[in-house]
Amino acid sequence: MAVDISVKLGGVRFKNPFIVGSGPTVKDLDQIKKAADGGWAGASIKLSIDPFPYLSLPPRYRWLRREKMHIFTAERRLNADQSLALLEAGRRAREDFILIPNITYDGEDHAGWGRLARRFVDAGARVLELNMCCPNMSFNLSSTGTETTKNTGASLGNDLENLPKAVAAVVEACPIPVIVKLSPEGNQLPPAAYAALRAGAAGVGHTGNRLGIPGIDIRRPLEPFYHLQDQVTLGCLSGPWLEPLTLRDTYQMRHALGTEPFILGSGGVRDLDSAVRQIMVGADAVWVCSETMLRGFDWLPGVLEELKAYMAEMGYSEIRDFRDLLHRNIASAGGLTIREGHAVLDREKCVDCGICWKIGHCSAISHEGGVTLIDGGRCLACSTCVDLCPKRAISMIETR
Ligand SMILES: Cc1cc2nc3c(=O)[nH]c(=O)nc-3n(C[C@H](O)[C@H](O)[C@H](O)COP(=O)(O)O)c2cc1C
Ligand code: SF4
Ligand code: SF4
Repeated sequence: MAVDISVKLGGVRFKNPFIVGSGPTVKDLDQIKKAADGGWAGASIKLSIDPFPYLSLPPRYRWLRREKMHIFTAERRLNADQSLALLEAGRRAREDFILIPNITYDGEDHAGWGRLARRFVDAGARVLELNMCCPNMSFNLSSTGTETTKNTGASLGNDLENLPKAVAAVVEACPIPVIVKLSPEGNQLPPAAYAALRAGAAGVGHTGNRLGIPGIDIRRPLEPFYHLQDQVTLGCLSGPWLEPLTLRDTYQMRHALGTEPFILGSGGVRDLDSAVRQIMVGADAVWVCSETMLRGFDWLPGVLEELKAYMAEMGYSEIRDFRDLLHRNIASAGGLTIREGHAVLDREKCVDCGICWKIGHCSAISHEGGVTLIDGGRCLACSTCVDLCPKRAISMIETR
């Protein structure tokens, strides 16, 4: 069966739905060549800010292996000239590769957004991305009680009055598709996405990242968590741990915006399954950042083969065939079908370890004489014991 894994944004065709997310792996020409050669459909260039500088620091990152969580606050940004030069060099080096400048205008007037965007169009950009998502800029400052008059990144993404004005200025100045990248921080994702589309954006997406405070050692709470960086701060969390939240972000955007708009999801995409899940809740394409930081780019060809095989197996001829599949089937809390049943114990497997005896909300499990027993009549059928039992000695049965 022939399958087509390409997706279209306006008149621009991406050969597959995988785009390198704006970040540290899209800052120089060598990285861009590697991403293009690794089969990625495109890459969003690292954020450039104009006027520069505004919060640009040497990078300090942590990867928490056990939690599968990446975190950072300090990060080096590009200026507009650096991003323009990279765009031009990247285009020359790999003509078919779609490079998407990720930009923020930090001046006072909305028209400045248009002027900045125009420079990228003149340099040959085919798609443009407006960064209204970064939570490490003015949003981080205001979240920690720091006075700021800045309205950048996630702060602008939550400002439903100024966001559409900035988007409209860019759309007016640019004849190419404009993506607005938003943040779930601030809880304005669906209305902000709607405002961006109404102002003329061709697509919307979300960063997925949450601000958080990981790694506090309670005996040395003021001890730096980062290497070569002092102070505890709010950090931007990304990576696989984030996936359930970002599926919700994509789902809520699709739910609010309907079937037509082009939506990019991101947050925790690292393999076939995590990408397909994003598509199933409403994404047309995905941005991948953390995984490219940890593993580079050359794992994608295998995933693309897996995607084609998966689609053939499932009878999907194009991405649209399974986009929104889960989205359409996510029930509301009031619409659940709850079936009657209870837990049953397999005495052959049970070793009377006592783990299930302690479940605080359960009065169905007894252990007289150290022998485990489940009273089906008192069982709520919550299934906590099934998941806790290390011997798989408990299962659920349905009753009528
Ligand atoms: C270190 C780092 C830097 C990032 N810088 C940018 C950026 O400059 N512009 C942007 O729009 N998103 C940026 N992001 C967000 C990513 O592009 C991506 O949307 C997010 O991290 C979630 O995806 P992931 O779990 O694959 O990393 C950055 C993420 C990380 C981890
Ligand atoms: S947790 Fe499992 S093995 Fe342990 S007592 Fe309960 S049923 Fe038996
Ligand atoms: S399913 Fe819930 S209520 Fe029933 S025995 Fe297990 S833990 Fe107790």
